Amino acid sequence: MEKFIIDGGNPLKGEVSLCGAKNSGFKLLIAALYSNEPSTLHNFSKIGDVLTTAAVIKELGGQVSFGENHVLQVSGKNLTKQNLSQESGQLSRASTYFVGPLIHRFGKAVIPNPGGCQIGRRPIDRHLEGLKALGAQIKEFPDHYEILAKRLKGGYFAFPKNTHGGTDIMIISAACAEGKTILENVAQEPEVDDLIAFLNQMGGKVSRVEPRTIVVRGVDELKPADYTVMYDRNEAVTFACAALATKGDVFVLHAEEKYLGAFLEAVRKVGGGYQIDRRGIRFYYQGQLRATDIVTQPYPGFMTDWMGLWSILMTQAKGESIVHETVFENRFAFVNELKKMEAKIELFNPRVDNPEAIYNFNLEDDQPQYFHAARIIGPTELEATTEEITDVRAGASLILASLIAKGKSELLGVEHVERGYENLDGRLRLLGAKIARKKL
Ligand code: UD1
Repeated sequence: MEKFIIDGGNPLKGEVSLCGAKNSGFKLLIAALYSNEPSTLHNFSKIGDVLTTAAVIKELGGQVSFGENHVLQVSGKNLTKQNLSQESGQLSRASTYFVGPLIHRFGKAVIPNPGGCQIGRRPIDRHLEGLKALGAQIKEFPDHYEILAKRLKGGYFAFPKNTHGGTDIMIISAACAEGKTILENVAQEPEVDDLIAFLNQMGGKVSRVEPRTIVVRGVDELKPADYTVMYDRNEAVTFACAALATKGDVFVLHAEEKYLGAFLEAVRKVGGGYQIDRRGIRFYYQGQLRATDIVTQPYPGFMTDWMGLWSILMTQAKGESIVHETVFENRFAFVNELKKMEAKIELFNPRVDNPEAIYNFNLEDDQPQYFHAARIIGPTELEATTEEITDVRAGASLILASLIAKGKSELLGVEHVERGYENLDGRLRLLGAKIARKKL
């Protein structure tokens, strides 16, 4: 166990390079299991989520080897087990991603209830309904599911609400199903398209025919591929917020305008500076930031994963900002910690006329003690703190708060940040941050 010790107050300056996308890498590993020959994946981040997925693959008998320079090889050769252990299900939310390759090989997949970040209930009802539409028979037990089909069959499924993971899972599962699958109301996240491109390189036939419609023509088998994982747009936002909040100037190598539209619009409104060129995007402070309201939404909207970082940035903006979270039902855990740092932030539930249409979570998962919005008044000088990080995005937000706070903060729970960021502290240090690691 380790902790970060952060001495805040330094403007971050310099150039930083993005790593491969957390929300893409792990699922390409799983899709690659369709082939017995090794696929080679480049630009792979060595992060907790990838290591956990690799461990599950090895537990099932598959092969994963990490090479130099973020290159990785993976194959489904020797895949002998169709049961994911309870432990692996608790560690990762990736369980249902395995269903397609396991059914293709064994006609059966046994998966535990998925785990993952503590940011809400995160049910998998939409995944399971989708799999049923492909002819899977699903038996539910208290702590696991048995999913059976001799071979999945092409079908039609319209997601009742947006789901990024559900869209991925249906694409992977339909890739080797018999016949054509039409998926409607699918997620538009760029990481879904990274998966589509990878499957197509393996010989799959997947196309996004409309922004929210994907057609998958099932093939009998997939071959290995050589593929480069896309860069992480959440990391781009992390470094951008760090540059603006610390009154710094950071060039984010590989940041791409096309994936960051909603964020760049918000930066413009708040009065932050940015300059786009073909290598990446420079983010810089150019004077007092202005309060700005945002509402999180599925892509192409303002992403929920950016909400915590944005809230910290708004503690430095002049006036009252409102942040409305509509994707997850309970994602404001970091607010208590921020309050201890003297931030002026209050949670509340805004009036919403049509919650079923506005909220991406299932309304029955909402609870009276959950809040869906925060009101932030700035600018405030934050005080240093000692806190425990409990999830990856809240962790990045607390690191950002500590980078701008007066004095020395100590953040425990480094491993939660490392589920999603490779060497975040090292890269921040290169930008001039005073951040050290200490063993507990
Ligand atoms: C993915 C991303 C996560 C991001 C999120 C939204 C990965 C590993 N994670 O999470 O970083 O914040 O997309 O862009 O890629 N839901 C249900 N039933 C379901 C499926 C989802 O109720 O069957 C709910 C979820 O609880 C959540 C909302 O729908 O409230 C959106 O979830 P989803 O888009 O599926 O997010 P993830 O794929 O879990």
